[in-house]
Amino acid sequence: MTSPRIALVGANGHGRWHRRVIGPLHDAGQVRLVALVDTAPIEPEPAAPVPAGVPVFTDHRTMLADVTPDVVVICTPPHTHLRIARDAVTAGADVLLEKPPVLSTTEHQELAGALTTTGRVVQVGFQALGSAALTALTAAVSAGRVGTVSGIATVAAWQRPDAYYARAPWAGRRLLDGRPVLDGALANPLAHAVMQCLAVAEAVGGGPVQPVSIEVERYRVRPIEVDDTAVLRVRPRHGPPIVAAVTLAGEDFIAGEVIVTGDAGRAVLEYPTDRLLLPGEGTAAAVPGRRGLLENLLDHRADPRVSLIAPLARTAPFTAVLTALQAAPTPTLLDGELVDTVGAGPQRVLRVRGVNEVLHRVAEEGRLPSELGVPWAIAPWRTDLVGQE
Ligand SMILES: NC(=O)c1ccc[n+]([C@@H]2O[C@H](COP(=O)([O-])OP(=O)(O)OC[C@H]3O[C@@H](n4cnc5c(N)ncnc54)[C@H](O)[C@@H]3O)[C@@H](O)[C@H]2O)c1
Repeated sequence: MTSPRIALVGANGHGRWHRRVIGPLHDAGQVRLVALVDTAPIEPEPAAPVPAGVPVFTDHRTMLADVTPDVVVICTPPHTHLRIARDAVTAGADVLLEKPPVLSTTEHQELAGALTTTGRVVQVGFQALGSAALTALTAAVSAGRVGTVSGIATVAAWQRPDAYYARAPWAGRRLLDGRPVLDGALANPLAHAVMQCLAVAEAVGGGPVQPVSIEVERYRVRPIEVDDTAVLRVRPRHGPPIVAAVTLAGEDFIAGEVIVTGDAGRAVLEYPTDRLLLPGEGTAAAVPGRRGLLENLLDHRADPRVSLIAPLARTAPFTAVLTALQAAPTPTLLDGELVDTVGAGPQRVLRVRGVNEVLHRVAEEGRLPSELGVPWAIAPWRTDLVGQE
């Protein structure tokens, strides 16, 4: 059997990380890199030099027609995903599509329809779903280690400097050229936190998560169009509420905790580091091991009995959240005494005073800032999905 022929669309930015994943697989003969595509010149990646003779394209359609790859990795800005993914599966390729896969439930349904028509698959770039620590958490929850689960929550506090928002034309934008981009904390950098919670909710509810209501409070400390601080509560048809409390304007760093609370205790997974604390254990322990999404896609192609880790269908509730965000009002600006500044120039960071304490309380109590009486909190934006799922 010849090794699958693979193309990467969007080769700079996070695409360089994909080049570092593809490089060793290419060198080992497990895949053959047959094309790179980028509208900008390809930046050098010393850890994964482009193999000699690999053509570079500026248009994915020309590439699909010229090299007909078996697998396409798509790492372009979110608002370009649907078109490129649809073209790739129509051309006969399976796809590894970066998160957020698409920006609305309508787009999700369109891409899902293209998969049904073509018989191809899309794996979505939620790489933390491949973590052994997440599997250990869901196994412990299913085995009753936390008892009856009353809440699933995530809390994360990061800092993003001015340079982050200056790096790409779509950074911090709700719309670009009239098309939704939705580059907020929930939709993009902290999307993994939300998706990890949804994965736990699948285990607790015993099946796909069907949101019946989505509430969100969104805030920002910068002249951006999206949130840098957000609190989300999803109520699913089955199982407990899911709460995400995240910021890119944090005081102290919280990498990202997924907290599962039950009547027999609580479990905490620090998802970026795969450290897990289960009830009855004194300290969190590293649970190493991650199955790579590209390797898993290749295994699935070779043997369909191997399940995909992050098939498009699994991301439907995540995209339902984005659909609700599309309709939500512009995030409320927090400024004046509420915000302090650290550093200068491109590395300047803005922080919301007291935000870590608020986010911790939200995650602990499952209540939104407005329900906790936080002075700067606004009423949540609410979307009901009853009958739509
Ligand atoms: N899984 C993760 O942890 C993770 C981390 C970072 C980024 N991402 C995702 O990766 C994607 C890209 O993010 P980024 O930060 O690298 O963006 P970026 O804007 O820095 O880079 C995207 C690249 O795509 C190219 N590009 C844009 N439009 C194109 C088109 N139509 N055809 C070909 N190339 C095109 C750009 O020139 C650029 O080189 C986003 O969906 C982002 O959310 C995922």
